Amino acid sequence: MSKRIYLQDVAVRDGFQIEPVFIPTEKKIALIDALSRTGLAKIEVSSFTSPKAIPALADAEQVLSGIERVPGVLYTVLVPNMRGAERALGCGVDEFNLVMSVSETHNLTNLRMTRAQSFAQLQEVIEYARPSGVALNISLSCSFGCPMEGAVPRDVVYGWVQRFADLGVNGITLCDTTGMAYPTQVLEMTRAFRERWPGLGLTLHFHNTRGMGLANALAAIEGGADRFDASLGGLGGCPYAPGATGNVCTEDLAHMLELMDYDTGVDVAALVTCARNLPDIVGHDISGQVAKAGLVSDLHPRPEWFDEALQHARAREARQARMIT
Ligand code: COA
Ligand code: ZN
Repeated sequence: MSKRIYLQDVAVRDGFQIEPVFIPTEKKIALIDALSRTGLAKIEVSSFTSPKAIPALADAEQVLSGIERVPGVLYTVLVPNMRGAERALGCGVDEFNLVMSVSETHNLTNLRMTRAQSFAQLQEVIEYARPSGVALNISLSCSFGCPMEGAVPRDVVYGWVQRFADLGVNGITLCDTTGMAYPTQVLEMTRAFRERWPGLGLTLHFHNTRGMGLANALAAIEGGADRFDASLGGLGGCPYAPGATGNVCTEDLAHMLELMDYDTGVDVAALVTCARNLPDIVGHDISGQVAKAGLVSDLHPRPEWFDEALQHARAREARQARMIT
């Protein structure tokens, strides 16, 4: 039996939040509906942040009421505070993805609060949301390093994980917000997380800012991870993290994992079709590679002169054989 890996697309949230031009609501809905049919485990469909902070996702309510919910797909949204939680609960989402940073500097830049203030707010949100039965996941930004502070000690990261574990949340996402993670670090962090919190959901969220995204995903699998955020076309980036660029690309990750015989449940060709529509939606080229190169199994036709070359080669072979005998 091949190992199951769960893929969660975040292009419509992490990707679109950084796009300079507002993507029309109906295009967001059409893309989410197409992604819902590719076999993804989860889709992060929007963000209930302040529309002043993230104008690109100011239409979260409309997006959620417009999409078709496909059974088996979990629909999650990013929630930074109580106001966001109230808005999201009214939309009937499956999961709240609560966010804070393990770096004080990044938390202040991104959320305008200290980490302690964020934690207090999220604690309130958790108490408020729990009776509704909505799943609660916490995304910890900068878990593999902060672009302003540098390394974040593992004990600091795990201190925040423990605080949320004590509140009984369903899962934690360790986010590499600006692509600072590297494979040996990821292996060690994932393995230690798995040993310490075997019953707590773990997602890895890598950005490919320095080209280490796929290598980090493999290292995480080696460390016991089975759940990844990724972004169609490799879109993405936090507007409040200097130097942030796209997430690890969903179709590139799915394609690689399928070749390696992991069971992602994803139709890679369908994902590639979605990715090839992205440049029309966002108005620029995308960084994903498989959408450009095609799948390994998409073979190219032989050149027209192939048969002629084959005849020549065989004739030469025959002449050489005659000379030898
Ligand atoms: N949804 C809608 N509006 C919100 C809101 C939310 N979740 N949170 C705050 N607001 C509004 C308030 O109503 C207030 O509006 P007003 O100026 O018209 O009165 C305004 O935003 C400021 O509220 P305040 O509580 O002072 O928030 P803030 O300015 O300190 O911002 C955040 C805090 C978290 C809302 C904001 O920094 C934010 O949304 N950041 C985005 C983080 C993000 O998504 N980053 C990328 C992904 S990690
Ligand atoms: Zn991200």
